[in-house]
Amino acid sequence: MSNRLEGRFAAVTGAASGNGRAIAEKLLSDGATLAAIDLNADALAGVFGDRPDVLQVQADVADEESVKAGFTRISDAFGRLDVLVNNAGIVKFGSFENLSRAEWDQVFAVNSTGPFLVSREAYPLLKAGDGDHTRSIVNITSVEAHIVISSSGHPQVHYNASKGALLQLTRALAVEAAPSGIRVNAVAPGFIETPFTAEALAKDEVRNWLLERTPLGRVGKPEDVANGVAFLASDEASWVTGTTLFVDGGWTIY
Ligand SMILES: NC(=O)c1ccc[n+]([C@@H]2O[C@H](COP(=O)([O-])OP(=O)(O)OC[C@H]3O[C@@H](n4cnc5c(N)ncnc54)[C@H](O)[C@@H]3O)[C@@H](O)[C@H]2O)c1
Repeated sequence: MSNRLEGRFAAVTGAASGNGRAIAEKLLSDGATLAAIDLNADALAGVFGDRPDVLQVQADVADEESVKAGFTRISDAFGRLDVLVNNAGIVKFGSFENLSRAEWDQVFAVNSTGPFLVSREAYPLLKAGDGDHTRSIVNITSVEAHIVISSSGHPQVHYNASKGALLQLTRALAVEAAPSGIRVNAVAPGFIETPFTAEALAKDEVRNWLLERTPLGRVGKPEDVANGVAFLASDEASWVTGTTLFVDGGWTIY
């Protein structure tokens, strides 16, 4: 716990579960006031209750009108933003030969188009942020934006491609946003214990295979991801933009 985000306004998508929840809790414990955005309003209410430092925003990041309505509420409540974390994401498994157009579109809509729509609505608020501090966007990509772990065991070319698109969105926007004092970075998690990976990690053979390939010898926790995000969101990273922080226990060394 620190007070390095004291007085800052942050927004996190997919804040009701897994990595997003841990990121939200970390930014709050570092002093930020938070807009917690999620598709699932009941889950948001269950996690954040009636905390006065959390604005609960039910929105679908893949739906332009829903994102606009959500950011109207955030703008009315905060007037500016200092940190945006694009975390909401979905995973689907299916072999390439049988992959439907609908499923491809669904994965891209949430994982790639969602961060575009959310960042675009957040952008004027980030520009209006506290000029004494750096402002930043952190995108949650994946090691699967860089390498392909799973295509033999549980194929997911659409997930890999959608995270690759988010990686390049991160790098391109970092260039465009830099003159406005806005930094744009990514955190690439390896396997993290969340509802997203619960099914895979419940299988001993998957868990053992994973541990053999992970130099640090354990599965990741959502708090590991949150700590990386909090660093990139803070002034300690004031000269860091367009980069990716791998939070993967060393998986991508090999
Ligand atoms: N868990 C892992 O091992 C892992 C590894 C690498 C990357 N990631 C990435 O981390 C992010 C979060 O994953 P997680 O494991 O915490 O997943 P999760 O399923 O536990 O949580 C995802 C949250 O996002 C919300 N959400 C889903 N679609 C949404 C939408 N259209 N609009 C708004 N909210 C939506 C869900 O309601 C849920 O609360 C994802 O982007 C994922 O790709 C996870």
